[in-house]
Amino acid sequence: MCGIVGAVAQRDVVDILVEGLRRLEYRGYDSAGVAVMQAGGELRQTKRLGKVSELAAALSTQPLPGGTGIAHTRWATHGEPSEVNAHPHTSGSVAVVHNGIIENHQTLRNGLKSKGYQFVSQTDTEVIAHLIADLRSQHGSLVEAVQAARKLLEGAYGTAVMDTNEPETIVVARSGAPLVIGYGIGEHFVASDQLALLPVTRRFQYLEEGDVAEVKRTSVRIFDLNDERVEREIVESTVNHDAGDKAGYRHFMLKEIHEQPDSLRATLEGRINAGRVVAEAFGAGSIDILRDIQAVQIIACGTSYHAGMVARYWFEEIAGIPCQVEIASEFRYRKSVVLPNSLLVTISQSGETADTLAALRLAKDLGYAASLTICNAPGSSLVRESDLAYMMRAGVEIGVASTKAFTVQLTGLLLLTMSIAQEQGKHVKPLVELMAKLPTLVEQALQLSSSIEELAEDFAHKHHALFLGRGTQYPIAMEGALKLKEISYIHAEAYAAGELKHGPLALIDEDMPVIVVAPNNDLLEKLKSNMEEVRARGGQLYVFADENANMEPEPGIQVITMQTVPDLLAPVVYTIPLQLLSYYVALIKGTDVDQPRNLAKSVTVE
Ligand code: F6R
Repeated sequence: MCGIVGAVAQRDVVDILVEGLRRLEYRGYDSAGVAVMQAGGELRQTKRLGKVSELAAALSTQPLPGGTGIAHTRWATHGEPSEVNAHPHTSGSVAVVHNGIIENHQTLRNGLKSKGYQFVSQTDTEVIAHLIADLRSQHGSLVEAVQAARKLLEGAYGTAVMDTNEPETIVVARSGAPLVIGYGIGEHFVASDQLALLPVTRRFQYLEEGDVAEVKRTSVRIFDLNDERVEREIVESTVNHDAGDKAGYRHFMLKEIHEQPDSLRATLEGRINAGRVVAEAFGAGSIDILRDIQAVQIIACGTSYHAGMVARYWFEEIAGIPCQVEIASEFRYRKSVVLPNSLLVTISQSGETADTLAALRLAKDLGYAASLTICNAPGSSLVRESDLAYMMRAGVEIGVASTKAFTVQLTGLLLLTMSIAQEQGKHVKPLVELMAKLPTLVEQALQLSSSIEELAEDFAHKHHALFLGRGTQYPIAMEGALKLKEISYIHAEAYAAGELKHGPLALIDEDMPVIVVAPNNDLLEKLKSNMEEVRARGGQLYVFADENANMEPEPGIQVITMQTVPDLLAPVVYTIPLQLLSYYVALIKGTDVDQPRNLAKSVTVE
C-alpha cells in the first residue's frame, strides 16, 4: 500500500527520496510524487501517474534541488489513480503525504469548505493539508498544529508534513500506520518502512501509536498521545542492505522461492535442540503460558490465514487441543465465544495488516489468556501489541505474492504445536527431530523447477483451474489457487477433494485443469477416487504425487513425482511446486509478477 519517505539534510535529498520510493514499490501503488523545499523556502513538487521510474524520469529533466523533502507512493482508496490525486497535497504553506484512511474526512471537508478552503482532489489526504493549514494560524509551530490536527482526525493513518514557514522541519504523526525515524550523521529521515532508508542509515526509532515527531536536521522531538515529550529507543537494524536487490533472479518472487531453504534454517536456528523445542522459543515467559493453554484461536488474512488452516490440523492431532481459525475481517465484526485458557494467535508477514491488528486489539477485551504473533517484521504493530512474539526471520519479502513467509509461518506454527505438546507432557521428540530435515527437503523440491516450467505451458491459455487436496493439503491447495489467481490472473478455486461431488464436478470438462496435491498418506486412496471422478468427466489432471503413490501418467493425467516426505512436513514441501507453477504461468502470461495489478504488499487499510 502507500509508502512515505522524507529527509532533512544539508545535501540535496531528491535522489534519497526516489530511491526510498523504489524500495517501497513492492508494497503496491498507482502513482508517485515528491515535494522539496527550495532555497528561500519555496515548495516545489512533481507527481506522476504510474511507476516511480516515470517520476524519476521527470525529475531528471526538471530537477528539484533542496535539503528537505517528502515523497509518496499512492495506492488509491479515495479517488481514482491520477496525477491530481497523487500526493503530496498542499494547502498554503503546508504539504502533506499520508498513508491510511481518514474516516471522518467528509465532515472535516464540509467544515473546511465552509471556511473557504478549495479542494482540487477527491482524496481524504487533502483534508489533512487544509486542516493543518487552518490550525497552523492558531499555533506557534508546525508540530503543535499537527498535534491539534491529530485530535480531530479519525481513522488509521500515518502522515508526514512540511511547512514553508519552517523549511528545515518535517513533522510526522502515527495513528494506526507505521512510521520510523532514521538517524544519519547530521541528517534525519522518515519512512513508513525502514527498508526505504537502508541505503542511508541503519539506526531507527519506531514511533508508537499516537506519537507526533518533529524531525529537524540536527534534532528529533517526539510527543506521545498526551502531548508529553517522550524518548523512543534507537535500534540498529539487522536487515540486509541488499534485501531490496534481486540477486540475479528475474523477479523477487523467484528469488524468494529459492531463498526458502535458508529462511527455514534461520527460523529453526537455536529453536530446537536434542529433540526439544527450546524453552522461550516464543519469548520470555512463554513456557508458563503454553503449559496451561487449553485452546487456540488463530486470526489472519490471505496466505497467512492458509498457514493457520494447516496448523489447525496439527494443534488438534499433535497437541490434542481444540483450534479455531478465522479470517480477521470476519472475526472483528462478530461476537465470538472464547474458550477457557485460550491462546490468541495472529499470523502476519508484515505485522501491519489492518484487519489482523484490529482483531488483536478487539480480542484484548474478550478474555484470552494471552496473545502471540507469528510475524516477520520486528518492531511492527502486531509484535509490539502482542504478549508473545515469534519472529519468523524469513528475511524481507518483496514480491507481493507471499512465498517464503508462508513456509516459515508453517514452520513457526509447527514449532508452536510441538512446544505446547511438549510442555503439556506429550512425547513429540521424534516429530521435533524430523523438523531439522525441512530445509533439505525443500531444497530437493526446488529441483523440480525446470519440469514445472515446462508444465506451465499447459496453463497459460486456460481461464480457470481447480486445486484439490485432503487433510493438511486442502489449505495447501487453497494457497496454490490463491498464488495462481494473484499473479497470473487465472481464476482458480480450491476444494477439499471430498467436496467435488457436492457441486464443483459440474465445472469439469476438457478445458478445466485440475491440480492435485497427493502425498503418500492415509488419505491417498480416497484422493485417488476423487481423481477418478474428474477423469470420468474428461477433466485434465496434474498430480503432484509421492514417488511411492503408485500413480502413473496416462492420457489426461500428468504426474509430477515428488520425493517421499514425512507426513508432518508434507504441507511445507508440497507448497514449493505450487509456488513454482504459478510463477512460471505468470511469466508466460507476461504479468507484473512482483507487483500484480490491484494488490498491495502490506494491507494497512481495512
Ligand atoms: C498473498 C498475500 C496476502 C497476505 C495477506 C496478509 O500472497 O501475500 O494474502 O498474506 O494480505 O498479509 P500479512 O501476512 O502481512 O498479514
